[in-house]
Amino acid sequence: MVAMRAHEAKRHDLVVIGAGPGGYVAAIRAAQLGLDVACIEKEPRLGGTCLRIGCIPSKALLESSELFYETVHALAGHGIVAKDVQLDLKAMLARKDGVVDALTKGIAGLFKKHKVTRYEGLGRLAGGTQVEVVDAQGQPSARIEAQHVLIATGSTSAAPKGIEFDGDRVGTSTEALSWPTVPQHLVVIGAGAIGLELGSVWRRLGAQVTVLEYLDRILPANDAEIAKEAQKILAKQGLEFRLGAKVTLARKNQDGALVEIEGQEPLRCDRVLVSVGRKPHTDGLGLDKVGIALDARGRITVDAHFATSAKGIYAIGDVIPGPMLAHKAEEEGVACVERIVTGYGHVNYDTIPNVVYTHPEVAGVGKTEEELVAAGIPYRKGSFPFLANGRAKALGATEGKVKILAHKDTDRILGVHIVGARAGDLIAEAVAAMEFGASSEDLARTCHAHPTLAEAVKEAALAVDGRALHI
Ligand code: NAI
Repeated sequence: MVAMRAHEAKRHDLVVIGAGPGGYVAAIRAAQLGLDVACIEKEPRLGGTCLRIGCIPSKALLESSELFYETVHALAGHGIVAKDVQLDLKAMLARKDGVVDALTKGIAGLFKKHKVTRYEGLGRLAGGTQVEVVDAQGQPSARIEAQHVLIATGSTSAAPKGIEFDGDRVGTSTEALSWPTVPQHLVVIGAGAIGLELGSVWRRLGAQVTVLEYLDRILPANDAEIAKEAQKILAKQGLEFRLGAKVTLARKNQDGALVEIEGQEPLRCDRVLVSVGRKPHTDGLGLDKVGIALDARGRITVDAHFATSAKGIYAIGDVIPGPMLAHKAEEEGVACVERIVTGYGHVNYDTIPNVVYTHPEVAGVGKTEEELVAAGIPYRKGSFPFLANGRAKALGATEGKVKILAHKDTDRILGVHIVGARAGDLIAEAVAAMEFGASSEDLARTCHAHPTLAEAVKEAALAVDGRALHI
């Protein structure tokens, strides 16, 4: 980074605050469209939460821990004898760090390629469309005058009352990605994506894992039937679920941590992962300087084109309403800058997939069955179990199913929900089909390679019309 003095105002067409998937992708797209773009990021490494301390490192650990688990528990079934299998946690964590490192450097390379100017520091709105860059000591290090400002500052872990984070025994996903030893007993608070993914990692490495969930079900954003099936599968892997458990306190004590649950006996454990949601990150952004107000949940309100109430200032990603997902932020970033430059830019919120990277994965797009019932939309439903899929059998991955919901009268696909191996990849076909307004008949008549897991999607589409072939 070039050292800059505060009085030297720099001019750019667009300044993006935050280099997470929303911000850095928007910066690249804007540069492709010919804008002179700057991006301010407070962390030394680009990529945001997703890349540094979220999606990417967790996926690296999910892969490694799954390999370890398979080696110990499943290889014998394939006729492979692996003796004296040992865990080298240090090496596993180092590999994860290497993956992150390579990808963050990749973004720095992309910035260079697209001539995006990078400023290191905290971006602070300074009135109009001026932005100050503040260094780690709180001193302004640069002043930028831009035509447009894009806020892409993401989110941070929510910290509910009664939870005392100490950076060691009671922590968030950030700490849970780097614990130096396998906990004996890990208590996970919240059965959303983060809790289930990281709970799975440590379970596979040998921890006893108890998941406490306030609601009477896990994965509240997913289709209930699919979530129930996922719960059954994860419970078989040894995750202990306690539903209807409202945690009121979690703190470090002499020999580990203590977790108090409303109306139940407290739990003692050696580590606690708090994964009860995330909140928009707007600290130190200076929103008051430009008159941008937050809604009741701390989110920046924007119009259909991501414009805030302040002229020339836009916001995308976790900091605005909608699912807190990296790919949603990316889509918004691209649409926002395309609109600024070309006058057009659009995100189809009906086709944003969500994936939980447990083993097997849980993925969904479109409406859940509960949502259709609540909205009184008539539908037909087709399901197909992986147990009846040849490739799943060969892979030894027969758990789970595909479920397709289509409109009763028009047959248009309204939702697709999968729990099963590689569900996160399989869902892409459903997303593309829905993007083109496909009917279940369209999917059912699409030739799928044999033998593949994707045939289960075709079979579920056939099942909507009661004509699945392999069951
Ligand atoms: P979440 O909002 O998905 O789930 C939090 C869970 O905690 C809910 O089920 C809630 O009922 C429960 N809860 C809240 N307070 C509680 C209490 N006091 N006691 C017991 N349970 C309580 O949040 P999560 O998993 O922390 O994820 C945060 C955000 O990040 C979400 O928007 C999620 O979609 C996103 N994310 C997505 C990933 C993916 O797509 N694979 C991975 C990681 C995060």
